[in-house]
Amino acid sequence: MLILGIESSCDETAVALVRDGREVLSSLVASQIAVHAPFGGVVPEVASREHLRVIDPLLRRALAEAGVAAQQVDAVAVTQGPGLIGALLVGVAYAKGLALALDKPLIPVDHVHAHVHGALLGVDAPPEDFYPALALVVSGGHTNLYRMPSPTRFQLLACSIDDACGECFDKVAKVLGLGYPGGPEIERLARSGDAGAVQMPRMVSQKARLEFSYSGLKTFMANLVREEAAPPSGQRLASICASFQDEALGQIVRKVKEALRLAPDTRAVLVAGGVAANGRFGELMAKDIPVRAYFPHPRFCSDNAAMIAAYGYHVHAEGSGRGEDLLKHDWDAYSRYDFARAASSDDG
Ligand code: KG4
Ligand code: ZN
Repeated sequence: MLILGIESSCDETAVALVRDGREVLSSLVASQIAVHAPFGGVVPEVASREHLRVIDPLLRRALAEAGVAAQQVDAVAVTQGPGLIGALLVGVAYAKGLALALDKPLIPVDHVHAHVHGALLGVDAPPEDFYPALALVVSGGHTNLYRMPSPTRFQLLACSIDDACGECFDKVAKVLGLGYPGGPEIERLARSGDAGAVQMPRMVSQKARLEFSYSGLKTFMANLVREEAAPPSGQRLASICASFQDEALGQIVRKVKEALRLAPDTRAVLVAGGVAANGRFGELMAKDIPVRAYFPHPRFCSDNAAMIAAYGYHVHAEGSGRGEDLLKHDWDAYSRYDFARAASSDDG
């Protein structure tokens, strides 16, 4: 089944063609970074106009690269939210028009959940190999842990009670005088550092609590840097980065370990979001987590439409490609899943 994916939630216009939810025939991303750079942030109205300007030529290129005609597409999947409303409108209106013109189903999908499916792009195995899964979305805006009984059901186990993990990387990089985004730079410096050099505080240290917290870690790092005799550099800077990185990621690994204890039937851990690009994350996960963790290829960590098409495939394959059905799935994902309550009923 061939799904066309369309993404326009923020400052990237993306179009992709994906077969059976995992084989990427083409995936194009038009970034607006340069357009917004002079303003120091994304300007919503400018983003909408840019999406409108590039979306149609991008679709034509994506079809040409994949070597398929628009009529061969089985369904059109599009990001319905969350995101900038004007930007979303462009993608949704375009996808609606296309679906109508081609007489194909339209599948609206949730952007955050779609990220999780980015972890399985290119992985050649049947869905039974992964579900029930645990899924992580770890980015500049989210630190979410879900249980996924199936590819389209997201049960929120925990999220951050304050800052997101990626945001913490960015803020810590700033106090260390490093560039933005901070994650890649901290990872690069940490490679030559000693992760045991600085004793780090443990956030939400109670084992049974699955929530994440990053604001205390950020404050600890700001105080640490302030108390240094001189701005850290060289080996000291590398070791500070390594110590911070292992705690920031280690916190997530500890929570996944606890979630596995609560959900021992879990077959895989799917990791998504910008922080999933961190190589040390995979190492820490492999060391402590007995089930296989899947990380996306770097090109599918950040926003793209292949993940939208992959998720759309599962929604469509399940026969629930209508918007109202998808919203029903998503309610689950926004209220906290409770293991104790689930054990006393049969909706596990
Ligand atoms: O999902 P994403 O591209 O977008 C938003 O959240 O908007 O995630 C970006 C976040 C940034 O906070 C960035 O610092 C973090 O992902 N990030 C990383 C790495 N690469 C990107 N964090 C840690 N290590 C990395 N290698
Ligand atoms: Zn995203």
